[in-house]
Amino acid sequence: MCSVSPQVAADASRFSIPLYQLQELSQKAMDTKARAYCPYSKFRVGAALLTTDGQYITGVNVENASYPVGTCAERVALGKAVSEGQMTFKALAVATDISPPASPCGMCRQFIREFCPLTLPIFMHDKDGNYVVKTLLELLPMPFGPEDLKPGPSPKSESQLADSDVQVGRGKDGGAGDELVAAETII
Ligand code: THU
Repeated sequence: MCSVSPQVAADASRFSIPLYQLQELSQKAMDTKARAYCPYSKFRVGAALLTTDGQYITGVNVENASYPVGTCAERVALGKAVSEGQMTFKALAVATDISPPASPCGMCRQFIREFCPLTLPIFMHDKDGNYVVKTLLELLPMPFGPEDLKPGPSPKSESQLADSDVQVGRGKDGGAGDELVAAETII
């Protein structure tokens, strides 16, 4: 019988993910890492997304002889997901061969932001399969996202936020409005 770490069980509960799905997600990120195409950096990265309907979509980093053209594992996974009609996600797992674990690069954090809630847990696995978990908001504070391009307060802002929040057009989930200071007070 295989034993489950109490911390993994606690994280599954904290993020409302069935334990078996979290275990499978971790395993898929670690397994898919073997397929990384990284002849230049030799830095293997595997990513696995868990969709809200319980599917797993994996990705690896895919490098290129013209170095900047290469793509990270997280963006490969998200691109595959979107191209398969999957746009809603419960969790992301990333795996590398280093310890402590690597976290998604800045470009990937912004890419993830486009499709995922700020509460999305991101499980970052080290070379031994142990992970650190952070939410997207923890990795990308004061995020810029699709709703920022919409004119005026978003429907969410109107229905869910207090007047003081609506004035600055942002919500309670880490938006730029939280600490707005009148310009004249800082001149
Ligand atoms: N890489 C990823 O796949 N994901 C990240 O978030 C960080 C970096 C890849 C890009 C490149 O192929 C290699 O790791 C070294 O930077």
